[in-house]
Amino acid sequence: MNILAPSILAADFNRLGENIKEVENSGCKWLHIDVMDGMFVPSISFGMPLIKSIRKETGLFFDVHLMITEPVRYLKEFKDSGADSVTVHTEACKDVKGTIDAIKDLEMKAGLSICPETDIDALMPYLNDIDLILVMTVHPGFGGQKLIPETLDKVRALRHIIDGKGLSIRLQVDGGITKENINEAVSAGADTIVAGTAVFKGNISENIKNLGL
Ligand code: DX5
Ligand code: ZN
Repeated sequence: MNILAPSILAADFNRLGENIKEVENSGCKWLHIDVMDGMFVPSISFGMPLIKSIRKETGLFFDVHLMITEPVRYLKEFKDSGADSVTVHTEACKDVKGTIDAIKDLEMKAGLSICPETDIDALMPYLNDIDLILVMTVHPGFGGQKLIPETLDKVRALRHIIDGKGLSIRLQVDGGITKENINEAVSAGADTIVAGTAVFKGNISENIKNLGL
């Protein structure tokens, strides 16, 4: 089953609750939540208080994408704020396995992400430990960028590996997804699609319908 995970980074924060309700009413089950620390990525977004606040109003699956250095420091706080899944970057963790284990110990799903310049080899030691792989299709840090086409080669290669080994790992893409290129990402093998601008700019329910997942 393919899943669309709207990224609230592109939402109207002045009407965040309403925007999320519309996502839910349009049939989505996941919400992608981008946390940035101004260190691992140049920008700062939002953190635990926001997640805690929206958790009260929705039953959506909270797919929290941590673009922060040494995320292991904050896993308990994200769990307590209502995260269902936490994705960390291989590039941001000194001890990737220890970080994944800590996520699982807190009974959350564990995702591992690679930036466009990182090879898929970086994921290989952890395939038996993770629930999701996030292939960044733009450089993390900002919404509204253009998808880097070469990143889909990594999606194709990972799909081959996941199926070949019979692993139950979701394969997620994030960044620059539009209604024009979403099919290409799915054909490459992605089954979990993040979209920010393509969902929240304009009419949310129309946009979700047009993305067609
Ligand atoms: C980028 C974030 C993305 C971003 C996607 O660093 O991880 O989740 O919100 O936004 P769009 O879909 O606008 O590229
Ligand atoms: Zn993201």
